[in-house]
Amino acid sequence: MSGARDAKIAPTAHYTAYVWRRLALPYSGAYATRRGAALYWTLRAAGEWVTAVAPGVPSMAQYLALRHLAIDHALVELDADRVVEIGAGLSRRGTTWALDRGVAYVEVDLPHMVAHKRAAIAARFDGAVGARLRERLTVVEHDVLAPDFGAWLAEQLGDAARPAVIAEGVMGYFARPERLRIARSIAEALAPRGGSFVCDARASEGGRAIAIAARVLKAGIKLVTRGRGAAEDFASDDDVRGFFTEAGFRESQPVDTRHVPGAPRVPSPAKVWRARA
Ligand SMILES: C[S@@+](CC[C@H](N)C(=O)[O-])C[C@H]1O[C@@H](n2cnc3c(N)ncnc32)[C@H](O)[C@@H]1O
Repeated sequence: MSGARDAKIAPTAHYTAYVWRRLALPYSGAYATRRGAALYWTLRAAGEWVTAVAPGVPSMAQYLALRHLAIDHALVELDADRVVEIGAGLSRRGTTWALDRGVAYVEVDLPHMVAHKRAAIAARFDGAVGARLRERLTVVEHDVLAPDFGAWLAEQLGDAARPAVIAEGVMGYFARPERLRIARSIAEALAPRGGSFVCDARASEGGRAIAIAARVLKAGIKLVTRGRGAAEDFASDDDVRGFFTEAGFRESQPVDTRHVPGAPRVPSPAKVWRARA
């Protein structure tokens, strides 16, 4: 893995953390940063005209809210007893699941992001709450492209009865062969226990609003990641299904966002998928 290349993805984690804060999601205040706020307001000023001239196109914040809440919803439905979230960044989900649901949660990221997250946890959670959080939430460094990722992940999943692996806003940055490698490792690690992998996937099919939204989204990502940008989209939902099958999953389906509490009712260029090992 090229650390410098992937470090460029990190600013998007600051951006999204600020979106969770704007949505007032539980514990989001602990992880919102000034850097995220600056990115949020810059992008909002740059992107507002598009939603104004192309009605029906979701704003970046709506798209991200839909994605985040759909993943939360899938996780609730899975009733996971152990969660490993890769590329967790500054997400508030692990803290919520650990503190409010008592679930063992492992967040995985690159060293600089892990250092940032640990510092935020140390600064914001002390006393009994901090102790409870540290008991259930582990924030660890690991490169998901490293050759030992699959074996390492299997160890993290331990003897969980209903394990889940999450990747939010992560897979889309990798080219398809790398994406496949990561998904294969996850399928292999989950296979002996059963369990699910939940992640978002962009497909280029859909109507005009979706096509415009996808273009706006990719332009926004390119701006925030200083040119690193996102990799190619899947061609269609069938292409996404084929990808999961090739990676070794038994079955995959998109989350039905009509049943996601609090989610904005907007068309989205990305769906959240649940793949079963
Ligand atoms: C776009 S951010 C998403 C953060 C979070 N999931 C969210 O939705 O707010 C992508 C995250 O993946 C992490 N990342 C990038 N490449 C990685 C790799 N090879 N191994 C582990 N984490 C990686 C980045 O540091 C960053 O925190």
